[in-house]
Amino acid sequence: MKIDGQPYRTIFPDADGVSVQVIDQTRLPFAFELKRLRSMHDAAVAIRTMVVRGAPLIGVAAAYGLALGLAKDASDAGIERAVEFLAETRPTAINLRWALDRVAAKLRTVPIPERAAFAFAEAGRIAEEDVESCHAIGVHGARILSNLHARTGRTVNVLTHCNAGWLATVDWGTALAPIYVAHDAGVPVHVFVDETRPRNQGAALTAFELNAHGVPHTVIADNAGGHLMQHGRIDVCIVGSDRTTASGDVCNKIGTYLKALAASDNRVPFYAALPFSTIDWTLDDGVAQIPIEERDGREVSHLTGRLPDGAFATIEVVSPGSPVANPAFDVTPARLVTGIITERGVATASADGLLSLYPERRAAA
Ligand code: MRU
Repeated sequence: MKIDGQPYRTIFPDADGVSVQVIDQTRLPFAFELKRLRSMHDAAVAIRTMVVRGAPLIGVAAAYGLALGLAKDASDAGIERAVEFLAETRPTAINLRWALDRVAAKLRTVPIPERAAFAFAEAGRIAEEDVESCHAIGVHGARILSNLHARTGRTVNVLTHCNAGWLATVDWGTALAPIYVAHDAGVPVHVFVDETRPRNQGAALTAFELNAHGVPHTVIADNAGGHLMQHGRIDVCIVGSDRTTASGDVCNKIGTYLKALAASDNRVPFYAALPFSTIDWTLDDGVAQIPIEERDGREVSHLTGRLPDGAFATIEVVSPGSPVANPAFDVTPARLVTGIITERGVATASADGLLSLYPERRAAA
C-alpha cells in the first residue's frame, strides 16, 4: 500500500541480508517511522511491544527473527531454543507458531553453515505468500460487497473491529482487503471503524490506513456498533482473526464476540477474513482451547496520544488503585459467523465448510 504516494510493506529485508526494517506501529498515526531489526532479540522485542502486530505480520517477523538468531547459533539445539523464545512473545495468534515451525522443519535438511541464509530466504517466501493470500482474500471478499451494493443500490456500510488491514499483514490486510479491492473497483463502500480499546488499533491504525487509501470511514466508540445495527446502518461486519479452529470458531481482538452477538440479533452478516496460516487444525473448541493473551493492565489504565504541541503523552484514565484486567482476545463461536473468507474462497464457519476449501486436510481430520 502507499503512504504519500510511496509504496510500502510493513516488513522488508535490507539488501545486506542480515537485518530487516519494519514500520513502527506504536508511533502511528502521528509519526511514520521505520525501525531496523538486527537480531532475534530485536525481533522479539518488536513483537512483544507491538512495534509490529497483527497475526500474519508477527508470523513473518518471527520467521525473520529466527533467521537473525541462527546467525549466532544454527545448531539443532539453537534452532529449538530460538523457536521457543520467539513463540513465547505472543501466545494467541497461531500464525507466529506456524511460521516458526515451517522454517524450522525445512532447516533440518540444510547444512549448518547455510541455515541462517536459508531461513532468511524462507521468511521472505512466507512474506510473499502472505501478500498473495491477502490479495486473494480481497478478491473473494469484494464479491460480497459488490453483491450487497447490487442488491441495495446504495453505499455498502461495513463495520470492522481492531486493525486487520495491511498494517496487520505484509500488505493488503485480511478484513480490509475486500474493502480495498471493492473501493478500487468503484463499489461505494463506507467503513465504521471500532476504536478498539484498550490499544485503539481501530482509531489509530485502521483509520490511518483508510485515510491514506481514500476510503470513506467513520470512527466510532466500541459500544456504538449494536446501536448502529439496530438502526439498519451496518450492512455487513468483516473482522480478521488471530486463530480459527478447524470447526470455524474465530478468535480475534477483544470485543469481536460482542459485535457478532449484536450482528446475529440484528441479522447483519458477520464474516471473518483470514489466510490458511490462521487456521489451527488441531483445535475444535475455541472458547475452551485457545490461549488468550493477558496484557499489561497499563494498556487499560493509561492512554497514549498526541498533545496539541505535537509531543506524545501518556495519561492515566482509571481511578488510581483500582485493579484492571486486560484479556487481549475473545472467541466468537462458529454459530455466530456467517462465513469465513480465505484465499481460496468463502466457506461456512464449520468443519465441513473449511475442509471443502482445504480438502488436503481431510486425511488429517
Ligand atoms: O493485538 P493485535 O493488534 O496484534 O491484534 C490484531 C487483531 O486482533 C487482528 O484483527 C488480527 O490479528 C487479524 S490481522 C489480519
